[in-house]
Amino acid sequence: MATNLKNKLQHEIFEKVAEAAKNLSLESYVVGGYVRDLILKRSSKDIDFVCVGSGIELAKETARIINPKIKVSYFKNFGTAHFRWNDWDFEFVGARKESYQRDSRNPIVEEGTINDDQNRRDFTINAMAISLNENNYGVLIDPFDGVADMQDKIIKTPLAPDQTFSDDPLRMMRAIRFASQLNFQIDLNTFKSIRRNKDRIKIISQERITDELNKIILSKTPSIGFEILFDTGLLAIIFPEMHKLQGIEDIQGKRHKDNFYHTLEVLNNTAAKSDDLWLRWAAILHDIAKPPTKKFDKNKGWTFHGHEVLGSKWVPKLFKRMKLPLDGKMKFVKKLVFLHLRPIALAKSIVTDAGIRRLLFEAGEDLESLLILCRADITSKNEAKKQKYLNNFDLVEKRCKEVEEKDKLRNWQPPITGEIIMKTFNIAPCRAIGNIKNTIREAILEGDIANNYDAAYELMLAEGKKLGYEAK
Ligand code: CTP
Repeated sequence: MATNLKNKLQHEIFEKVAEAAKNLSLESYVVGGYVRDLILKRSSKDIDFVCVGSGIELAKETARIINPKIKVSYFKNFGTAHFRWNDWDFEFVGARKESYQRDSRNPIVEEGTINDDQNRRDFTINAMAISLNENNYGVLIDPFDGVADMQDKIIKTPLAPDQTFSDDPLRMMRAIRFASQLNFQIDLNTFKSIRRNKDRIKIISQERITDELNKIILSKTPSIGFEILFDTGLLAIIFPEMHKLQGIEDIQGKRHKDNFYHTLEVLNNTAAKSDDLWLRWAAILHDIAKPPTKKFDKNKGWTFHGHEVLGSKWVPKLFKRMKLPLDGKMKFVKKLVFLHLRPIALAKSIVTDAGIRRLLFEAGEDLESLLILCRADITSKNEAKKQKYLNNFDLVEKRCKEVEEKDKLRNWQPPITGEIIMKTFNIAPCRAIGNIKNTIREAILEGDIANNYDAAYELMLAEGKKLGYEAK
């Protein structure tokens, strides 16, 4: 017997669309992601409707019934329409038999039935529709047994995968994104097809690729998506720097860890503590420059000196290429990559006030984020070692609080400005001013002088004197 989901169609919109479709004598359906999420009990904020006829007319008629003031936007060429109502987004489209020209995003549109429309969708779990028609309102139309695939946790294309991916190669990323978000497996044939067709991703715009990548990163266990990206060969194309992290070298029986799987562990650990996309990006990029800085030293073993400096230098160009924002978010990631070894270095040695002050000064308002990243970075399999580091981190954190209360170093600016130096010695802008400022900042951070105006002023006079300047 057909499954009827009438009782689950609780949003007011469904009756409105059904009424509009009746007025226009059209068949109409709810389709795609909303149906999937309804059955999986996931929340959503947008609903797609498909009708046999003009989606634009259906959208306009539905909006007219709800409130004639609602503004419907539409793309005539694509036959799609959209409006917002009470924070929900509604998309309307006419059912199509559609194929995409190779290497082009221009659809050739031909009107079709609901079944034609379901055939051209990306995955069985996204190809289910619910009827809004009077004769079978609420009936689930599931020609590819998407419900069974949801139960089996499988991502599978409705048609032969090569065809589905050729219609829109971004779907390869979407398959991996859904696997990561839902913790599903990709069906073997579908997986093999992604491997075969991976190079077709090159015709897709970076913005669309990055959108999917960010959704993978924001999933609960992002390593699921990245492992599939790696195994299908897509990662090497879209993010070669990350792909290169993989691998272990062995010299004289000394091995370093696999930095790809380590990075995924750090990313999962970070994801368990924070939903912040940018903090998660910092986790992905924290060791990104390990491959080019890798050296083998007979005494010390494997070293990656300066990987945090080089890695942070790479951040702007990586963000630019990935079409990620180049504003404060990029600067935040750059800063965290640069500082990611600092708290660990502190936690390993005796925690001095000077070290803590320097950390507070450099991390500023991002200290909490940095500490989440650093804790996430402890992936040692040796429990005793891991616990020791974590305990030391507790100590670093506690000391940060104490020193911060005392010295108020976050968002701190040293008490003597360049202006004051120029005025005091009556000099024009020159390199000496920066040098004096640095000396004062270092002396305060090291605890050599107190963090106040008088002590800093006195040091400024002494430093100026060394350079031959007198207070005027
Ligand atoms: N779709 C498709 N091929 C694509 C993109 C979308 O077949 N490349 C179809 C799928 O049926 C999908 C529907 O269009 O369910 C809506 O797409 P979209 O809103 O991008 O995704 P959702 O599945 O709704 O998922 P999410 O909201 O999580 O992005």
